[in-house]
Amino acid sequence: MAQTVTIKNTGLRGVTVADTKVSFIDGEKGILIYRGYRIEDLAEHSSYMEVAYLLLNGSLPKKGELERFEQQCLKVRQLPGYVLESLKKWPRDSNPMDVLQAAVPLLAMDDPDLSQETRDANVQMAVRLIARLPILVAAWHRIRQGLDVLPSDDSLSHAANFLWQLHGQIPEDEVANDLDTCLVLHADHTFNASTFSCRQVVSTQAHMYAGVAAGIGALSGSLHGGANARVMKMLLELESVTDIPGWIKNTLDGGGKIMGLGHAVYKTMDPRAKFLREMANRMGKKLGLEKWHELSVRVEQGALQEFASRGKKGIQPNVDFYSAPVYYMMEIPRDLMTPVFAISRIAGWCAHIIEEKFGEAQEKPVLYRPKAEYVGNYCGLMGCSYEPPEGRE
Ligand SMILES: CC(C)(COP(=O)(O)OP(=O)(O)OC[C@H]1O[C@@H](n2cnc3c(N)ncnc32)[C@H](O)[C@@H]1OP(=O)(O)O)[C@@H](O)C(=O)NCCC(=O)NCCS
Repeated sequence: MAQTVTIKNTGLRGVTVADTKVSFIDGEKGILIYRGYRIEDLAEHSSYMEVAYLLLNGSLPKKGELERFEQQCLKVRQLPGYVLESLKKWPRDSNPMDVLQAAVPLLAMDDPDLSQETRDANVQMAVRLIARLPILVAAWHRIRQGLDVLPSDDSLSHAANFLWQLHGQIPEDEVANDLDTCLVLHADHTFNASTFSCRQVVSTQAHMYAGVAAGIGALSGSLHGGANARVMKMLLELESVTDIPGWIKNTLDGGGKIMGLGHAVYKTMDPRAKFLREMANRMGKKLGLEKWHELSVRVEQGALQEFASRGKKGIQPNVDFYSAPVYYMMEIPRDLMTPVFAISRIAGWCAHIIEEKFGEAQEKPVLYRPKAEYVGNYCGLMGCSYEPPEGRE
């Protein structure tokens, strides 16, 4: 019999609901670990493909294992024809996160492993999702502009191929490597809202695609992955504003939020944001677009000062703050910034779904089923009885 505990209206902050071996955060010290490796080391030394393998399998791949994994991804990249045909019929001004969320269940329909509830079958499904999500995002971007969907180029890395299929131009190595690092940085983050959504859905024994579609829905919100696009909107609006401290003060006085700042777990600088701030600086200098890094730093410093003057500590840049100018300088359209987050986080979602289903870190998987306290009216109970609404018998 489960013990009854009441933790209401806290967004479950600080409540431990499961064991995990996938990733770890120390929010006070600003530490993030995937499967025992510090994010700083992975961002510096590993590719996204290595990190995806790590998250799914628990250890970094040896050379042969990485080659096999990459080959597996290449083989399943192609989107089924019926998916492309469906995309062509959808309204072209649809939000790309809605498109992604709607298209993922379509991918389930031709997955040969869908009905097999084994770990191996789920790893195969994960490989298909990791390989296909970027293709899907790029295909949608081409289709909505009335352009042909480009074939993937198997000689390119995962990140480079995405940029090629998106823009129709092979990116410079440095740009592709920077995007690859961004994908590493976003690949997992313990029990954030989207990962918890994925895990909660598959705890009912729903399949991986159902879980991932739920994760995409959760990620789209402005308090989660949707923040990066809103950071860029803010920066574009602030480009012509000279009094940044005044703008920050007015925004906070009006109850508004400064997007890309603050975090439910980190109470110090998000370790991913440090990398992205440096990347934005380097890219800006190379491209003659220093203004985006400079403006972001001014907003960061102005906001930290304003928060401090209001006695609010620990509200620092999160992963979405500097990824916005980085993606903008990569010419990734603003409304594709959150889908780019998704094409990275897919590896973490799948790793967590597999953990949830096969209970690697727990004695047995459980169906999540919290309670809510009913604070509405009672009828037929507690002494009250049914009264027909006025005018009805
Ligand atoms: C992510 C977020 C929802 C975390 O919220 P949280 O868990 O409530 O964070 P905290 O408990 O540290 O917030 C403390 C206070 O600071 C405020 N605060 C936090 N981040 C803020 C921000 N970016 N702008 C303005 N105020 C903020 C909160 O509203 C809260 O105010 P209150 O005490 O008057 O109610 C919040 O920081 C936020 O909305 N950030 C902007 C959106 C964003 O960047 N999301 C991406 C997250 S990765």
